[in-house]
Amino acid sequence: MNNPFLFGKTVTGSSFINRTRELEYLSETLTRGQNVIIFSPRRYGKTSLIKRVLERLKEHRVLTFYFDLYRITTLEQFYQYYSSSILASLQSPYEKIFSLVRTLIPSLRPKLVFADPGSPSIEIELNLDILKKNSTLKEIFDFIEKYCVLKKRKACVVFDEFQEIISIENGNLLEREMRSSFQHHQHVSYAFLGSKYHLMNDLFTDKSRPFYNFGSHYELTEIGLEDWTYYIKEQFKKGGYTLTGDACKRMLSYTKGHPYYTQLFGSEVWELYHKIKKINENDIDLALIQVLRKESHAFVEFWDSLSNPERKFISALSTSQDNEIFSNEFITVNRLGALSSVQRTVAKLVKQGLLIKKSSRYEITDPLFLQWVKQDL
Ligand SMILES: Nc1ncnc2c1ncn2[C@@H]1O[C@H](COP(=O)(O)OP(=O)(O)OP(=O)(O)O)[C@@H](O)[C@H]1O
Ligand SMILES: [Mg+2]
Repeated sequence: MNNPFLFGKTVTGSSFINRTRELEYLSETLTRGQNVIIFSPRRYGKTSLIKRVLERLKEHRVLTFYFDLYRITTLEQFYQYYSSSILASLQSPYEKIFSLVRTLIPSLRPKLVFADPGSPSIEIELNLDILKKNSTLKEIFDFIEKYCVLKKRKACVVFDEFQEIISIENGNLLEREMRSSFQHHQHVSYAFLGSKYHLMNDLFTDKSRPFYNFGSHYELTEIGLEDWTYYIKEQFKKGGYTLTGDACKRMLSYTKGHPYYTQLFGSEVWELYHKIKKINENDIDLALIQVLRKESHAFVEFWDSLSNPERKFISALSTSQDNEIFSNEFITVNRLGALSSVQRTVAKLVKQGLLIKKSSRYEITDPLFLQWVKQDL
């Protein structure tokens, strides 16, 4: 049996675990036409989850569109990507798409191109001047809605890594035009995904920005430890391993159910003991050392970017049992200086995404980074 633990790519099929409640909620909400803003720290499984949601919506005849803004840097690039992806996913004969584009987005002047005999394609002329004409932007963004009306269908459009809109050249124009079109759409629901909390916050909770209050907010958390325990034990058993309950517990005490890290850790343990096939609690620590070694380049880079007070604060956090980070005791024992300076440090780490506020507590979003800091103390 091959190593079943997968990391670093979208998980599908039987590698996708749990998320039953999330799937239910998001499928229902988006089918109802409600827009959703989905946030989680990095590598919590947003993309895997939303792709699963889209599969489910497709089964219910909802048209689905997925856009990842991660590598988009200019307005032209965005529209090229946006319009060609839409046309490609319509799966209609090209003549029909061609006439559709001509009717619904007349200012784009589509051209039929016969580069490859037998399979003509549609090219769309796009340049900044054309795009800056409001009518063009509006036509492009209204296309899916009009298409839905025509076909009597519903649609769901996903923008992954949506926070990147902030760094796209002329992104503010894009933001404005999107909002002013999307708000009138009756047949399309929109999901916006992001992992940079402060940027997502700026986009959706700042009253002066176009997307203020545009949808309900949904925060994706880790996968529960019970689900992980079941999955991990099952996989090792199927592979002919004996993994003790305490060994599994220890693994999860390091990864805290963080989806990417739990898969990475599982994979490491699998490889490390694939000859012996017997794993006790203490064997897990060797895997921890290996995992930390493999991830260390990213940890070193992040550590280098921190100021001295930030490093002191993280070191204190890594060795403390509770996280009453603003308590007198925590600050004094760890010699962190004035309360106001700890508050500043915390605000900055929240902005960077290392800390997250849950109810009234702050939690670290990267459990292995904390282990790495601890290891070097
Ligand atoms: N439901 C799941 N079941 C099992 N593993 C998962 C699940 N969701 C995520 N993972 C693990 O986490 C990794 C990251 O998942 P994914 O890329 O979907 O997260 P993301 O939040 O979109 O990440 P990024 O912040 O990098 O965009 C996957 O490669 C996989 O190892
Ligand atoms: Mg993603």
